[in-house]
Amino acid sequence: MYWSKAQSEIRHSQEMEKVKKWLNNLWNYKYKDKSVFDPNKELVYADRVRRREPGDDTLGLSPHCDAGSIERWTDNAYQKIYNDIFSDNFENYNPFDAKYRDETIEFESPAVAHVFRTFQGWTALTEQGPNDGTLQLIPIAKGMAYVLTRALLDDVPENELCGSKAGKALSINEKYHSLLLEGLISIPKMYPGDTIWWHPDVVHAVEEKHMGKTFSNVIYVGATPYCKKNIDYIKKQSKKFIEGKSPPDFAAEDYEVNYKGRTKINDLSELAKKQLCLIDWN
Ligand SMILES: [Fe+2]
Repeated sequence: MYWSKAQSEIRHSQEMEKVKKWLNNLWNYKYKDKSVFDPNKELVYADRVRRREPGDDTLGLSPHCDAGSIERWTDNAYQKIYNDIFSDNFENYNPFDAKYRDETIEFESPAVAHVFRTFQGWTALTEQGPNDGTLQLIPIAKGMAYVLTRALLDDVPENELCGSKAGKALSINEKYHSLLLEGLISIPKMYPGDTIWWHPDVVHAVEEKHMGKTFSNVIYVGATPYCKKNIDYIKKQSKKFIEGKSPPDFAAEDYEVNYKGRTKINDLSELAKKQLCLIDWN
């Protein structure tokens, strides 16, 4: 589900806006020739909730990164983003430089996000801790340097990028990334409303099995600042929102079209309408 009233209220809340604006401002976004995004205008990217019952072993996710897989080697903008890594100047690489981050072109696929997220976000809806089927991270934004250069070593076949496949999430696996995976940790105990935010290059996973005793539920709300790439997507998303269909980045399941009580345009605040590009910011 994407358009329940509870999801909309969380995504468009003033508290959420405040947090996301603060996070956007951690990036370098101003350059001589252009500002990559406006950190103080936050758009809203609709994602799902995860509702996980005790004992569930079907909703785990193996370690991965989002925002494209082999694109990170092949896409022109990604090559510029990672230029310091590819040209052996790793020390100069700053993962919080936003330049070119809004220009990447990802493969069309229901497994790939087509927005620029300064941070991906996770908000607890229930109390949960390690072993409750929760989120895991390798909290090192520069870890991408390891992933990118790992594929260039001699033990990786010429026609392979360590298991990465077009149109899928970027795979971080035991075969090639065992050293990096030593850093994978479960997030600490969380209570409803607590949030975790991670850089778009950070490796993340979901514990395979929920061994706790109560529901372990979360909502995904990331930070998607005002820039052309995000505006283009949000406008397409809003057409789907009005019809109650699944957002463009997700499989067109369209379950909610005839749901009573889904969020409609009249339920939205002025801020929410701006965040969905339904009205202008000015
Ligand atoms: Fe992910």
